[in-house]
Amino acid sequence: MEPRAPVPAGYTRTAVALHWSVAGLVITLLAMGWIMTDMAGSPTKLQVVTWHKWGGITVLALFFVRSLWRLTHPVPPPLPMAPWQQRAAGTMHALLYAMLLVQPLSGWLFSSAAGRQVVYLNLIPLPNLVARNPALGAVFKDIHGTGGALLTAIVSLHALAALKHHFIDRDDTLRRMLRWRPE
Ligand code: HEM
Repeated sequence: MEPRAPVPAGYTRTAVALHWSVAGLVITLLAMGWIMTDMAGSPTKLQVVTWHKWGGITVLALFFVRSLWRLTHPVPPPLPMAPWQQRAAGTMHALLYAMLLVQPLSGWLFSSAAGRQVVYLNLIPLPNLVARNPALGAVFKDIHGTGGALLTAIVSLHALAALKHHFIDRDDTLRRMLRWRPE
């Protein structure tokens, strides 16, 4: 196989750090979500659910940091690829951004409607977004569960597409998210 040419780095260090920290958090939260819903009620489960909520609120905060970063910093130009691939990637990224907002918000709404206030890192009491309402809580729980499945599908497709670009197309799509250019 031909050795690859050096990658013209496209993203800033902050963009790369935000991408991988959100990716790591989301994958961990998805795994925690599935595991903890199968756990019998216990202090350990309560602890895991609390960590899950803190992680989810961190993703929500990072969503706003990331959106602000993206609006104020130019994104590197797209790499050459078929127009349908550009469109598919654009749709996928829009869906990912939407889910990074919907998923933590539905979790927070679910907790609020269940009457359980979130105290972020045991330090910052967050307001309940809605008054206690078990029926509404059940709706948000369903949205959160379906959102988890949807997010799992989108993240898997996103990762598979990155691997396809790297190993089959042998282009720089993945490599330029693994290095950064100066801010
Ligand atoms: C990106 C962020 C998040 C992801 C990916 C995520 C993912 C998940 C998943 C996959 C489940 C299992 C759903 C099921 O099988 O029904 C779950 C459950 C849950 N999540 Fe999240 N979640 C996030 C954020 C949050 C936030 C911010 C809160 C609350 C502040 C929260 C509270 C809960 C609760 C209370 C449960 C159910 C626990 C139980 O019934 O035992 N989540 N989450």
